[in-house]
Amino acid sequence: MNDPILRVRGLSKHFGGVHAIENVSFDLERGEVLALAGDNGAGKSTLIKTISGVHTPNAGEIWLRGIPTTFATPREAREAGIETIYQDLALADNLDVGANVFLGRERMRRRFGLLPALDRRLMRAEAARVVETLDIAMPRLDLPVRALSGGQRQAVAIGRAIFWNAEVLIMDEPTAALGVPEQRKVVALIKSLRAAGKAVIFISHNLGDIFAVADRILVLRRGQKAGERRAAQTNDDEIVRLIVGESMQGRAG
Ligand SMILES: Nc1ncnc2c1ncn2[C@@H]1O[C@H](COP(=O)(O)OP(=O)(O)OP(=O)(O)O)[C@@H](O)[C@H]1O
Ligand SMILES: [Mg+2]
Repeated sequence: MNDPILRVRGLSKHFGGVHAIENVSFDLERGEVLALAGDNGAGKSTLIKTISGVHTPNAGEIWLRGIPTTFATPREAREAGIETIYQDLALADNLDVGANVFLGRERMRRRFGLLPALDRRLMRAEAARVVETLDIAMPRLDLPVRALSGGQRQAVAIGRAIFWNAEVLIMDEPTAALGVPEQRKVVALIKSLRAAGKAVIFISHNLGDIFAVADRILVLRRGQKAGERRAAQTNDDEIVRLIVGESMQGRAG
């Protein structure tokens, strides 16, 4: 088991003439949090979408648990243990927490011994168990998630990933739309995921969040890897320089 949980080599994704990501490589270990940083349009979302089966790469390889892998759809990636929480969260607003945890993998029961029907009670009970482990206040599990705050919604998405026992969690700007207490809560959730041995990739523009939780920081610039640093061996200034490029450094001083 010396293989990293996820290994990405030479990954490229082009949209017509736009090289959204170009020749990106990195490893992700179990129990490790990797932050993806970079300016708007640097290719962060494209990178994770190319890993999670939304996009097909133009070049490169993805290895999961030491095995070369391709995912034709996000569902295939999820079934292989890579759960991605997209920026819009992809929750169904009109469904309750239980139904969202089971979205796409609903539990059925047989009504009157023959007609299949959704087993809402079982789904809510299972969801309640997960939410309890997350230590996040959730008013009622039978309310549609539209009634939840941003942090609570994030917790439902994370809870879903935990329930399905994902080994790799990818989160695209999980704290961007949240208030300060909720940002802290999400950062704490990421830490507990790491403590449970999960591997986490999270995208953030917030260097405070990045340094609060990341073990390593990978910076993208114009689709290319501008650098990769251990969080303990770098600082805000260096990461900002990698984000904006050396030319800015010259101008600044
Ligand atoms: N589906 C698409 N079709 C065409 N071009 C795309 C598509 N998705 C992304 N791009 C382009 O690829 C580049 C990288 O975009 P991406 O969304 O990955 O950036 P990002 O780093 O996530 O930015 P942000 O921080 O603003 O979310 C941009 O130039 C963008 O316009
Ligand atoms: Mg993005």
